[in-house]
Amino acid sequence: MNTPVGIHDLSFATTEFVLPHTELAAHTGADVDKYHIGIGQRSMSIPAADEDIVTMAAAAAAPIVERWGTDRIRTVVLGTETSIDQSKAAGVYVHSLLNLQPSTRVVELKQACYSGTAALQFAMGLAHRDPSQQVLVIASDISRYELDSPGEATQGAAAVAMLVGANPTLIRVEPLSGLHTSDVMEFWRPNYRSTALVAGQESFSAYLQALEGTWKDYTEQGGRALHEFGAFCYHQPFTKMAFKAHRHLFSTAGHDLDEGRMSAMLRLTTAYNEVVGNSYTASVYLALASLLDHAGDLTDRPIAFAGYGSGCVAEFFGGTVVPGYLDHLRTENHRYVIERRRPIDYDTYRALHSRSLPEDGGHHLTPRQTTGEFRFAGLSGHKRLYEHS
Ligand code: HMG
Repeated sequence: MNTPVGIHDLSFATTEFVLPHTELAAHTGADVDKYHIGIGQRSMSIPAADEDIVTMAAAAAAPIVERWGTDRIRTVVLGTETSIDQSKAAGVYVHSLLNLQPSTRVVELKQACYSGTAALQFAMGLAHRDPSQQVLVIASDISRYELDSPGEATQGAAAVAMLVGANPTLIRVEPLSGLHTSDVMEFWRPNYRSTALVAGQESFSAYLQALEGTWKDYTEQGGRALHEFGAFCYHQPFTKMAFKAHRHLFSTAGHDLDEGRMSAMLRLTTAYNEVVGNSYTASVYLALASLLDHAGDLTDRPIAFAGYGSGCVAEFFGGTVVPGYLDHLRTENHRYVIERRRPIDYDTYRALHSRSLPEDGGHHLTPRQTTGEFRFAGLSGHKRLYEHS
């Protein structure tokens, strides 16, 4: 029998600041219930001027490196759609900030919110090929829409880091996946824009059709029956989407749904996303973190994962929770990274949103705002400068 491979450790980080949806509603004029109930969001993480996908990624991965060391990590795969360079992989900065071994391969992956799942699947392949090596998978993103647009309330930011390898302590990931790709334009961000373009209503149906496509493919390949799964972790651009997805999946599969049980189960996966906002590639794994940190004992329960990235690519797969996993969780630290965020007012949020980096290649230092361990210190000669305190 093959050595089991999967998620050995999981840790997430988010930003210095947070904007409550009550504050947003007070200025947009929207009924706050539209945010709290309609889309299921309560606040969103806002990066400080000296935070970016690298600082979040390093902060997410640092506790993993501290616990397991660097000796067996031979690959870093970072999924993001908030790329900071057209050539250099953001993971190379993370590799440097975390003092990983030089004998490491580092690469960045992109396909909207899906690339965190792509990174996990690539890591699985490498770990199967050589069970002695571990892969550091990081999904790190900052979701930005136009000010005063419908998407504005669904912004957010976070990074999830996962150590992937043989004999995992958290989740054994199953090799069978249901896949779906179709060429749609419901959400995209051309290189010259810092905010995404989105067709909101079309994006719902693209997401649901892709989920349906993955389920069809998964079943045709002999995947598990729906009722075998004890929990479902969906990509959550806003948490209400997980409920829409779950209803759609059950109706596609021709199963009745107990709404009460569905709500109780899905709520376990939405606790972090509803206060962090859309973290794009990280979202589905933030749902997993929330589930593991808030459910009772899930030992031996199969969990379903549904990753989705606009454009669009989706993947459905299963994983089983490993006996003893409770001893390896980081629940306290996860609560801390959520609670340590400093609330900001609407004017501060708008000023941060409107900031852009100079393109003249000169020496520009970034104001010190973050109290986190890693910071983006500025630019010099078109090169990004990072600091580790
Ligand atoms: P909107 O059009 O302003 O909102 O923006 P709405 O009018 O559709 O209302 C939203 C919900 O709130 C509705 O519920 C309303 O009924 C309800 P629903 O009918 O959907 O169940 N509502 C209220 N509820 C209680 N009290 C009230 C109230 N008022 C209204 N007073 C939209 C919503 C999601 C379109 C917008 O936020 C948006 O464009 N977001 C960005 C796109 C997005 O997240 N799409 C999701 C699928 S695509 C995806 O997941 C990929 C993505 O992550 C990117 C990637 O892959 O890289 C986005």
